[in-house]
Amino acid sequence: MPSNKRKILLLPGDGIGPEVVRETKKVIEWFNKKKSLDFNLDEGLIGGAAIDKHGVPITDEVFYKALESDAVIFGACGGPKYDKLEFSKKPERALLKLRKELKLFANLRPAICFKQLVDASSLKPEIVSGLDILIVRELTGGIYFGEPRGVKPIENGERRGVNTHVYTTKEIKRIAKVAFELATKRKNKVTSCEKSNVMEAGVLWREEVQFLKDKEYKKIELNHMLADNCAMQLLRNPKQFDVILADNLFGDMLSDEAAMLTGSLGLLPSASLGDKDKNGKTRSLYEPVHGSAPDIAGKNISNPIATILSFSMALKYSLDLEKESSLLDKAVEKTLEDGLRTTDIMSKGKKKVSTSDMGDAIISNLN
Ligand code: IPM
Ligand code: MG
Repeated sequence: MPSNKRKILLLPGDGIGPEVVRETKKVIEWFNKKKSLDFNLDEGLIGGAAIDKHGVPITDEVFYKALESDAVIFGACGGPKYDKLEFSKKPERALLKLRKELKLFANLRPAICFKQLVDASSLKPEIVSGLDILIVRELTGGIYFGEPRGVKPIENGERRGVNTHVYTTKEIKRIAKVAFELATKRKNKVTSCEKSNVMEAGVLWREEVQFLKDKEYKKIELNHMLADNCAMQLLRNPKQFDVILADNLFGDMLSDEAAMLTGSLGLLPSASLGDKDKNGKTRSLYEPVHGSAPDIAGKNISNPIATILSFSMALKYSLDLEKESSLLDKAVEKTLEDGLRTTDIMSKGKKKVSTSDMGDAIISNLN
């Protein structure tokens, strides 16, 4: 039996973050009550919300709470209000700090097209129906964190901006291993993306992934694909993919693209996982792939499904509750089956509902 006093930290953040996390909180409370799980829920400010109150994107207090949690559920951060802030003070720095300091190097982004939503995608139904891709994105390296970085004045009043794309053998192998392991539980197929035609670090990526496969994962079918080609193939024939392995930046872009195949960015959950610590515990953070969507924030029209499904991933990957996770997935699917749609996935003949209606409907389907 899993112990039943585990800590879940909610970090709603900015924009639509608070509304989608609010709905997810209702779901967590349902599990506490109906499944006697007794998750210990705590909440903290992050991003712009923390800047407004404390002048920093994340306080030490919230950071240490995240370190001690069994799972962190993150909403979104950022917004136009903070665009002019100095780089190191921007809301996004909080999320990047959590990823880096909690060593959450593996970001899992499943793109599944629910059969009820084939019409919500901008692609033809036959291209996306039955789609089930898992993007494995490296999350603590590459150009997001590489040094040197920054903007400096140069001669003639001009400036020079630098970011560095850098990966080591260890970082590449560590994330490739995650992709291979997950593929063994799926269709045994990994497509690894880089730009080895123009980047030395891309050549290294390709070689190290291949070495690891040859040594430890002989049964996996491994294909290497240039990242730009992968972007194109995702639109041309997305069902050729099973697991897509990519670095931090390419993974960021390819996952937004894959999200749209499923109908809406509002549907894609993600899990960010670290290594096991000495007690066998994996640090983790769960977040919807969509951002803060400031244009629709506060209107109760956003789609809470991506965040609710992110909690489902937490049940599966951090809380050892696989059955509860699939129960939640089924409740989400049933709600779509019932014809309920938030604005982003609305189509003819369906019932348009608000963020909170969607949350309530998922809960009544759990019941
Ligand atoms: C994502 C987001 C983040 C990223 C931003 C908010 C820092 O786009 O999680 O995909 O670029 O990683
Ligand atoms: Mg992104």
